[in-house]
Amino acid sequence: MESGLFSLSGKTALVTGGSRGIGLALAKGLAEHGANVAIIARTKEQLEAARQQIQTDTGLRRAQSSRKKVWTFPFDLKNIKAIEALFENIVSETKGIDILVNCAGMTVRGPSEDVDLKTWNQVIEVNLTAAFVISQAFCRHRKQVAKAGRIINIGSLTCHGARPTTAAYASSKGGLLMLTKTLAVEWAKYDINVNAIGPGYIATDLTEPLRSDEDFNEWVLSKTPLGRWGQPEDLVGTAVLLASKAGDFITGQIIYVDGGWLAML
Ligand SMILES: NC(=O)c1ccc[n+]([C@@H]2O[C@H](COP(=O)([O-])OP(=O)(O)OC[C@H]3O[C@@H](n4cnc5c(N)ncnc54)[C@H](OP(=O)(O)O)[C@@H]3O)[C@@H](O)[C@H]2O)c1
Repeated sequence: MESGLFSLSGKTALVTGGSRGIGLALAKGLAEHGANVAIIARTKEQLEAARQQIQTDTGLRRAQSSRKKVWTFPFDLKNIKAIEALFENIVSETKGIDILVNCAGMTVRGPSEDVDLKTWNQVIEVNLTAAFVISQAFCRHRKQVAKAGRIINIGSLTCHGARPTTAAYASSKGGLLMLTKTLAVEWAKYDINVNAIGPGYIATDLTEPLRSDEDFNEWVLSKTPLGRWGQPEDLVGTAVLLASKAGDFITGQIIYVDGGWLAML
């Protein structure tokens, strides 16, 4: 008999940045474990393709009737002031969100002395401020329905250490780690567990320029004891752990899924 320890049956997850890369893999993985999912991104066509992919892939293993529900919400998270209304709309369409995954992210690389303020602000807004504001809306919603909740923030190796040319990105992810800890200690009283996942280098659109740089690619492989780039699917198990009953007593943590990167001197 299955224990149900990792089951997400009856839950609904909202994944920002769920149209491709890590967010899509997480949305699909949560659906595979029983959740209905809502996804946010800017590009409508990619959202629609993601919706079909999640439904087809989860439906393949189940009867047609038990295909997961997938809602799509085209939205630019830089539009911070509209996030609260967006979230209310999502709740009214889905009838409630149990799990929030803050995954949408962007990066701009360049010498720190040359980064203009507009670029800095955009990275901080998408990676940190939007995650905070949507988490606030999620908390108010869980309080209103008097039910527990889970927040999973997608951090980075830059939650732990720095690399040249990533000032805005690393600052946003460092901030996201402290936000994770703050909300975990503050919202434990509402039964909201807040954790982060720190991916190593994962093969997605975001890292395509790095993978096609031969020297950088060699460097990544040499720094990763498991000797490969991660795949978005490598993060699914940790997300399911943090979203399910198995994660009941885990809060305020970051779990690095990095092929051993941070363990090596
Ligand atoms: N790939 C890695 O090696 C790696 C490592 C550590 C951490 N991460 C983190 O993991 C997360 C996902 O990365 P990824 O590699 O999967 O990136 P990706 O392939 O570029 O996907 C980014 C996702 O975020 C959405 N997005 C970006 N800007 C947005 C905005 N302003 N409003 C709404 N949605 C937006 C994108 O859709 P639209 O463009 O259509 O909006 C897309 O769905 C990011 O937070 C990233 O920092 C990635």
